[in-house]
Amino acid sequence: MAVIIEQPNAPRSRKGAQWEKRAWIFMRVSGIILVGMIIGHLMVNLVLPERGVKSIDFAFVAGKWASPFWQVYDGILLWLALIHGTNGMRTLVNDYTEREWLRKALNVTLWVVAAALIVLGTLVITTFDPCIDPNVHEYLPELVCKG
Ligand code: HEM
Repeated sequence: MAVIIEQPNAPRSRKGAQWEKRAWIFMRVSGIILVGMIIGHLMVNLVLPERGVKSIDFAFVAGKWASPFWQVYDGILLWLALIHGTNGMRTLVNDYTEREWLRKALNVTLWVVAAALIVLGTLVITTFDPCIDPNVHEYLPELVCKG
């Protein structure tokens, strides 16, 4: 007995297929990078600090983002995880949504939310100012604050 596989909902044009191939490769490549970066993230934030999760306070974040290395690291992690997660959700939406208008509406919503989170997160990382804490020199003695 022949098994009939239903047409997938994802767009099927030649250009669409190229795009889907690139998205497929991106999910594998970003997945591999994410494993390493998430292990590093959890080690530095949760495993290595002596007080575990209790260590994550304003001073801990200020100390971390005083280094351009951690600003770039956290920025890359933010962008990769959000684009990977949103593209993964797009796959699920394309697989399970039957009505075309709903598929488009959900996908547009997904990417608008992802773009907003990427912009807000990047702004937080790049504009974070430890000097708003009057006691900042207790844990960052070298820091020079204006005014
Ligand atoms: C820890 C490292 C990670 C690896 C190795 C990984 C790997 C992958 C791969 C290979 C796929 C494609 C699966 C397919 O096409 O059938 C995928 C899908 C997906 N990923 Fe990740 N991923 C990781 C982290 C994340 C993170 C942090 C998020 C959320 C922000 C996420 C959310 C998703 C979603 C929603 C899907 C779609 C699920 C599906 O197609 O069934 N992943 N992941």
